[in-house]
Order: sequence, then structure tokens, then C-alpha cells
Amino acid sequence: MKPIAIACDHAALNLKAELLKHFDSTGVEYVDYGTYENKSCNYPDYAEKVCDAINEGKSELGILVCGTGIGMSMAANKCKGIRAACCTDTFSARFTRLHNDANVLCMGERVIGAGLACDIADIFLNTAFEGGRHQTRVDMVMALEQKRK
Ligand code: RB5
Repeated sequence: MKPIAIACDHAALNLKAELLKHFDSTGVEYVDYGTYENKSCNYPDYAEKVCDAINEGKSELGILVCGTGIGMSMAANKCKGIRAACCTDTFSARFTRLHNDANVLCMGERVIGAGLACDIADIFLNTAFEGGRHQTRVDMVMALEQKRK
């Protein structure tokens, strides 16, 4: 598995730090794309960095954290090839890998605690896509990128 790509905005610096500490202790390799300081910043810039890393083949999976996880997921889902899922529970994290082949996990520091976020991340990173009938649906989702409306 390639190193995961991870980033946060100023609202989720602490949650990112907890996730990185957890990954260091469990041996999960990562590349940290920032932000690295408390200064107010714009989450779409950081979503783009992680999505670019995936699209450039540097990472297969990414994690984005902000205050709610929602802004990051909206921004990431505007990037080609990205299927971002904002999760607040382990069931959703498991099934968004099994059924949606999500490649970016988003979470909110103001929504969930660090312990739950680490569990969600572990499940997300260790669950494989089921394929089969779900591949057809994922292909349909990705085909929406090509349509003009
Ligand atoms: C920043 O205040 C906050 O809006 C951002 O972290 C995120 O929650 C947006 O969705």
C-alpha cells in the first residue's frame, strides 16, 4: 500500500495530529500536506493537494479533516476521480469502502472525538472494495463527471 495522503485546515489541526500519532504507532505510512499551523486557511486548497496526490498516483487513499468534514468532502468530490465520504461512524466507513470504493475519508474535529476518528480511519484503510455489482454503480457515479448539465 502506498503512503496515504492526509491534510487538514486550521479547524482540525488537533485531530490531524492525533491521527498522525496513531499512524506512527500502528506503522501506517503517510504524507502530510498541511496545514501545519493554527492560522486560518481555506479547506479547498488542502482538499486539492490530497486529491492531486491520488490522481498523480502518489497515494491510493486520502484523509481530509476540517471542522465538520463536510467542506472537505464537498471540495474533494469536485476533483476528478475522487469519491470522498464524510464519516462519523465505523459502519459508514466500512461500507463506503466495500460498496462505493471511496478513496478519500473526511472527518470533522468539531463532530467526533479522536478515538472514534482513529477507529474510523483504521476501518477505512483496511477494508477492500467488493466490486461485482458495486463496480457498475461506481462506474455510473464516475460517468456523471463526463456529463454536461
Ligand atoms: C472552518 O471554520 C470550517 O468552516 C471548516 O473547517 C469546515 O468545517 C467546513 O466545512
